[in-house]
Amino acid sequence: MTDTTVSPSGRSTGVRTHAGDVPFSLPSIEEDDIEAVTATLRSRWLTTGGQSLEFERELADYLGVQHAVAVASCTHALEICLHYLGLPAGSRVGVPDWTFVSTALSAVHAGYQPVLIDIEEHTLNLSPVSLDAALDQGLDAVVGVHFGGSAVREDVHLLCADRAVPLVEDAAHALGASDGNGLVNGRRSVAACFSFYATKNLTSGEGGAITTENGDLADFARTFRLHGMSRDAWKRYLPGDGFLYDVNSAGIKANFPDILAALARSQLRRFSQLQARRRRLVGRYRHNLAQVRGISVVPPHADPGSADHLMVVLLPPGTSRPRVVAELHRAGISTSVHFQPLHLFRGMDKHFVLGPTGVGTADRLAQRALSLPLYPDLTDDQVDRVCDALALAVLRHAP
Ligand SMILES: Cc1ncc(COP(=O)(O)O)c(C=O)c1O
Repeated sequence: MTDTTVSPSGRSTGVRTHAGDVPFSLPSIEEDDIEAVTATLRSRWLTTGGQSLEFERELADYLGVQHAVAVASCTHALEICLHYLGLPAGSRVGVPDWTFVSTALSAVHAGYQPVLIDIEEHTLNLSPVSLDAALDQGLDAVVGVHFGGSAVREDVHLLCADRAVPLVEDAAHALGASDGNGLVNGRRSVAACFSFYATKNLTSGEGGAITTENGDLADFARTFRLHGMSRDAWKRYLPGDGFLYDVNSAGIKANFPDILAALARSQLRRFSQLQARRRRLVGRYRHNLAQVRGISVVPPHADPGSADHLMVVLLPPGTSRPRVVAELHRAGISTSVHFQPLHLFRGMDKHFVLGPTGVGTADRLAQRALSLPLYPDLTDDQVDRVCDALALAVLRHAP
């Protein structure tokens, strides 16, 4: 019996129950996690409250940043930050073509026009050359994505700072990532937006957070995430406290409930262990894949600051990816693709426009990227099995 779990959004969590299978993704869940959630259930306080507040403090401490505001997802975190910018409707927001669709949809939901920017082949991160050209043509804000856990190039920060264009960091893959200036935490941008979705390095099933040095943004986010209400439920139900509240802005419903916060806190306590295990697995993959002709690992050299969220390879040009995927599947190995470039989504034509350099690199690589299983509970033997099966499949299906 095989059971593939698919999330409500349609994204497979990759969890399979067939003995011997290698799922694409498997969250690390230990007894402490289960106890933390159970204790919250027993407390009878389920929505945003003490656990969520504690998680915000602990996350801000870990990242070395003043404010962390926990929200329902990274998508909501991005949307809230973009709303905060208060740009006129239709303002142009640069986003990489190579990202999950919600990076761009968060700009659409804030009333803006996403402009798709090309990427660099080696990192699949924003190309500073394409970004520069798009800034010349006119951008009102930029969302930079730290793809796979590798921080965007310093040039991305500098180019935005030079033009005084606000930069929001999509750090969905980047909890624990660092660049030359330390941990990715939103201190050098408007904010960093994290995801705690089921496949992420730290997971609460669903969830996200905004981290920033900007107290005004943090205050805005705290009200905007709960309908713009001036006082959240936690405060309204405190004994002796009034129940009245005002509504300051047309906010959204995107608060982070305590059941999830309890899991997030428990995961944060062992986060460095989880990251160390990912780092060792990536090292093993890199060592093994160096022997496989035609495969390029992304990025080609180990990035010491990476959060090691994804293990992405580029298949040799002209290789049939569907055949490789099917062959790995027959060997019991699940894979995924990060990402389908945004310009290829036909239904999105009316929402997205291309930047001045086009998206030629993303287009050229679109059929070559493949993400291999990577999570702390993956064993060394499983990594070897994946690499052997991949080598064989590539041998068969490369031109
Ligand atoms: C780059 C990127 N940005 C944003 C998101 C959205 O995260 P969430 O599911 O927490 O909204 C994802 C999720 O997979 C992602 O990969």
